[in-house]
Amino acid sequence: MKTNHTILFKDSSDMSELQSNSIDLMITSPPYPMIEMWDSLFASLNDDVKQALDEEDGRSAFNLMHEVLDKVWGEVARVLKFGGIACINIGDATRKIGKNFQLYPNHVKVSNSFQNNGFIVLPSILWRKPTNSPNKFLGSGMLPPNAYVTLEHEHILIFRKGDIKRKLPTKSENRYNSAFFWEERNKWFTDVWEDIKGVSQKIYKNNQNKTRQRSAAFPLELPYRLINMFSLIEDTILDPFWGTGTTSLAAMISTRNSIGYEINSGFMNLFRTKLGKLKQLNIDINNNRLDQHVDFITSYKKRLKEVKYTAAHYKFHVITKQEIDFLLYVINNYTEKKNKFILDHQKFEYESKVKTD
Ligand SMILES: C[S@@+](CC[C@H](N)C(=O)[O-])C[C@H]1O[C@@H](n2cnc3c(N)ncnc32)[C@H](O)[C@@H]1O
Repeated sequence: MKTNHTILFKDSSDMSELQSNSIDLMITSPPYPMIEMWDSLFASLNDDVKQALDEEDGRSAFNLMHEVLDKVWGEVARVLKFGGIACINIGDATRKIGKNFQLYPNHVKVSNSFQNNGFIVLPSILWRKPTNSPNKFLGSGMLPPNAYVTLEHEHILIFRKGDIKRKLPTKSENRYNSAFFWEERNKWFTDVWEDIKGVSQKIYKNNQNKTRQRSAAFPLELPYRLINMFSLIEDTILDPFWGTGTTSLAAMISTRNSIGYEINSGFMNLFRTKLGKLKQLNIDINNNRLDQHVDFITSYKKRLKEVKYTAAHYKFHVITKQEIDFLLYVINNYTEKKNKFILDHQKFEYESKVKTD
């Protein structure tokens, strides 16, 4: 099986290379409005942003930054297929502008924008990164009433284009091969994720202009889970704020196609380095997923529960009929031509470390 991955280094407010209704799933994390590290980027895309910040007009700056993002959301609405899902990881911002400290609720703005573009709002996920920083309440004091709550979560907003679910052929092989396990369903489809750590925001060298920058990347596990929750093998996944390409890497190890838009080409070498190690990571992730399943089934059986179904492609049991055709692939090799990658995948063979039966 082959998949294609294309990266376009340009502003995603114009995705005219993509046909309308051509994308199956969109996963992204945009620059967060009112987080200082993105001020200059928003100012470069709209002159009025700098003026609003200089005038300490936080409310206008917030609205103007979302107008910049809205242009991209408009394009996402055009290119996504009807019934296709859009997942947006976004954090709210807290900031003191002039004398006023306040919350800028980015997730509310993004949600309104998607609704205005004809999307249906689906239940969303709170991503609470595990942290045990002793300094998190620093400066909040012990006296009421003017201490502030510490923000320790981000949102993963989920929308569907239009009010009709995606139509699929009744016997779609890819759909059955794309099944997730029963116990994964129970973990992934809960509304609070507390088991995914954030990515350390290391400083990377930008090869083009020799400056240094932070990546603001999300962890691979995040798009990997969302891709497996909301798309099928061979689907096409779009990330209009591609960054270091985490969404494409997750698409590659999930045997999906991907398209990324990014205005800063400075992370391309970092992406190539990660791609060079992706085959081994793919093997590790697959093994880990299947080992966890075998462990789960073993302890499930120990609790004297009957397991009726056997996987068709692997030597283990599954809880439900829908999981029977579960199938993983692994990257075999890849070629690159001008920011386009073609990957060859083969069926993943699994030897369980635990004796099954
Ligand atoms: C939060 S980062 C995305 C990080 C990414 N999820 C990852 O794991 O590396 C947002 C990215 O969007 C890019 N960006 C911002 N505005 C853009 C636009 N209009 N078109 C394309 N890329 C844009 C920024 O350069 C930045 O790399």
